[in-house]
Amino acid sequence: MAQSSAAAAVVSTPAAETERRLAKVSARDVNVYYGEKHALKHVDLDIRANEVTALIGPSGCGKSTFLRCINRMNDLIDIAQVNGSLTLDGDDIYDKKVDVVQLRARVGMVFQKPNPFPKSIYDNVGYGPRIHGMAKDQTELDEIVMTSLEKAGLLAEVKDRLDEPGTGLSGGQQQRLCIARAIAVSPEVILMDEPCSALDPIATAKVEELIDEPARELHHRHRHPLHAAGRPRIPAHRLLPPG
Ligand SMILES: Nc1ncnc2c1ncn2[C@@H]1O[C@H](COP(=O)(O)OP(=O)(O)OP(=O)(O)O)[C@@H](O)[C@H]1O
Ligand SMILES: [Mg+2]
Repeated sequence: MAQSSAAAAVVSTPAAETERRLAKVSARDVNVYYGEKHALKHVDLDIRANEVTALIGPSGCGKSTFLRCINRMNDLIDIAQVNGSLTLDGDDIYDKKVDVVQLRARVGMVFQKPNPFPKSIYDNVGYGPRIHGMAKDQTELDEIVMTSLEKAGLLAEVKDRLDEPGTGLSGGQQQRLCIARAIAVSPEVILMDEPCSALDPIATAKVEELIDEPARELHHRHRHPLHAAGRPRIPAHRLLPPG
């Protein structure tokens, strides 16, 4: 994967600059190529903190490609090349000094297909906090694992089988395990790439409830006058049409 600065000039208005300053994640003139294929063209997008933002677009328009830019998963694709500016809290995500492991702890990801590690249910969730030194002892690690499973709506179903392999769970349970794994390291941003597409309606409802949960928590803590009466604000950004 290669990255270079934007070839085209970015025209920025004062309003766009304000949006950018408020943004948790900001994209300016982002282009992605897979070899000759120009998969993402001139994407400008600001994603604010403490909100759920949905990207909607037809198959092949670049939703997954864009998400993978944010935590540099495209680095793993040899032919992928990312141009333009992508920032997290104003810092360049593609700066050479960025530690990609740390970046992915800050920006977690849940994929379309559940992909638990070939480890126990406990270790799937405890692995991240352990390698990032988030728990000073076993009691603290237990606490993180249990809280994450609880938040993912899975604890009741697995609390008596934490030593069993994560891969032995049902598809919906595996996806909730992956969500527990993602939230266990307290990421600032969670990227979810169609996490419910392989799930049945009941498992989908559980995951959707979970997606709402952090926003609802914030909503109660910092009641926003415009949204105090209803659901948390869920703005939808329409992504590009194909090409
Ligand atoms: N690893 C890759 N190598 C080559 N081309 C790729 C690669 N990944 C994606 N593409 C191409 O880039 C374009 C955008 O793909 P992407 O997977 O980001 O779309 P999407 O919007 O997520 O689609 P879907 O809704 O089907 O998941 C498509 O034309 C796709 O064929
Ligand atoms: Mg996709």
